[in-house]
Amino acid sequence: MPQFDGRAYQARFDVLAAGGMDVHGEATLVRSFRPTTVLDAGCGTGRVAIELGRHGIDVLGVDADASMIAEAKRLAPEMAWVQADLATLALDRRFDVVVLAGNVPLFCPVATRSALVARCAAHVISGGTMIAGFELERGYELDDYDTACETAGLMLTDRWSTWDGQPFHNESKYAVSAHRN
Ligand SMILES: C[S@@+](CC[C@H](N)C(=O)[O-])C[C@H]1O[C@@H](n2cnc3c(N)ncnc32)[C@H](O)[C@@H]1O
Repeated sequence: MPQFDGRAYQARFDVLAAGGMDVHGEATLVRSFRPTTVLDAGCGTGRVAIELGRHGIDVLGVDADASMIAEAKRLAPEMAWVQADLATLALDRRFDVVVLAGNVPLFCPVATRSALVARCAAHVISGGTMIAGFELERGYELDDYDTACETAGLMLTDRWSTWDGQPFHNESKYAVSAHRN
């Protein structure tokens, strides 16, 4: 798995936010599902989780990268963060929404990608939703993602080309998918 520099990763978003860009599109979409609990799977520095927490949602952030988790803890020490491999995750709780924002499966070793999807899906409550956004044409086919979700008992309910809900079409370079348990 690639190693990240959490400070540098966060700094890029800080610059965008300071320039007036909305860096919370993912959190806005997640909030539209009205969850009480969210697992931010592959949380990185907590960009999505912290915004959800700001809106009163009970969020757990999980990431395998020590530098990313360290930055998340620095930014929001009051929130819950766990350093763990999502491909083997086994928490004793499930969540209304599990969100994978920012190409998470693309940073996971190919050999454990299906396991990552399965273990994330296993943490969605009955009637809950898993939402994932990742770039296409980067080695992970949407059909493979859908199959992994179906195998885990989740069915596709919505698909967009952006986090702000632009329609998905054949030429889309990015997919945001919602699968329901
Ligand atoms: C580009 S970052 C996105 C971070 C954050 N979700 C965001 O949108 O800002 C991708 C993250 O996925 C995490 N990741 C990828 N595979 C993982 C795995 N198997 N277990 C835990 N984290 C993983 C990486 O460590 C990295 O922090």
